[in-house]
Amino acid sequence: EKGGYDHFMLKEIHEQPKAIRDTLAGRLKDDSVDLSWELSGLSDDLKQIDKIHFVACGTAYHAGLIGKSVVEKVARIPVEVDVASEYRYRDPILTPSTLVVVISQSGETADTLAALREAKKAGSKVLGITNVVGSSVAREADEVLMTWAGPEIAVASTKAYTTQLIAIYLFSLYLARLRGTWSEEELKRATAAISALPEQVQRILDAPEAIQRFARSIAEHEDLFFIGRGLDHAVVKEGSLKLKEISYIHSDAYAAGELKHGTLALIEDGVPVIALATQPSVYEKMVSNIIEVKARGARVLGLGLEGDTELAKSVDETITIPETLPLFTPVLAVTPLQLLAYYTSIARGLDVDKPRNLAKSVTVE
Ligand code: M6R
Repeated sequence: EKGGYDHFMLKEIHEQPKAIRDTLAGRLKDDSVDLSWELSGLSDDLKQIDKIHFVACGTAYHAGLIGKSVVEKVARIPVEVDVASEYRYRDPILTPSTLVVVISQSGETADTLAALREAKKAGSKVLGITNVVGSSVAREADEVLMTWAGPEIAVASTKAYTTQLIAIYLFSLYLARLRGTWSEEELKRATAAISALPEQVQRILDAPEAIQRFARSIAEHEDLFFIGRGLDHAVVKEGSLKLKEISYIHSDAYAAGELKHGTLALIEDGVPVIALATQPSVYEKMVSNIIEVKARGARVLGLGLEGDTELAKSVDETITIPETLPLFTPVLAVTPLQLLAYYTSIARGLDVDKPRNLAKSVTVE
């Protein structure tokens, strides 16, 4: 049942190329994205909505954080992101021209369902992104975009996250097409780049050695930091959650530019820092932030793009990922972080698939 892997989590990490392919299948047509059939019940709404709320928990919330940047950039619609357990208590401003996108692997998370119901009650439209056909989210949302990751057994979510990102990209590109915010040429380029992701993830999975080494080196630590800027900041939040969840090592995921407003005080000799530098628009700034932590004695693992010859000069170890459009790098950047959490948990001799205190599906509030 584990298909030759020691754990479900490792199997599911390795299933990502296929899961991404399956989630893309049938949705790319003529160099563009077509969701008109799946989202037919929302076609008028999608042209008219004036804001979007992403609401979800845990890893799915982290997918929503990426969703905000992507939708705003591609479709120019203002987006808010909330953790579902906070959403309805803050009295969100919901109108008929608000689209609420709930994201849930299981489709049964109690807080996420409560948010969905609150949105519908207020007359807003709801799009569900879920991995389970016939789940409560799939049944109750106005329309559904399925992720086709297949069953996810490990408590730590991996392939569900990457396919949620794919669903969000497809949705954003479709919106851009409907609303005319991106040209045919831009959509064509994006379609080509997204189609290349499965093979690019595979290349990362085929070379885990550097990550395994770094995992062994942090196994004895109790505290570490993840830093990134822009989309990398959202990705490090997911990397940090994954590591906490299955290795029980405490970590903070910081927007690198915020460090010197307080957290830099915690950086001292030998503290591990995992620094993502995949976003060209903030690359120079990110390198300056890395130099700041290095100067305080941090031991830095830098994650950058293939062909980057600069990063290695400022860090102790480097991992590279293939190049894609900056918008799509989260799919590639998260893969080494998933592997890092996995191999660290193994090095600490823990129960990877069933971490303490956690359940796969959280059906109580
Ligand atoms: O089934 P859902 O996507 O609604 O679950 C949400 C979270 O409980 C889930 O992502 C959780 O954070 C994972 N264990 C993280 O790996």
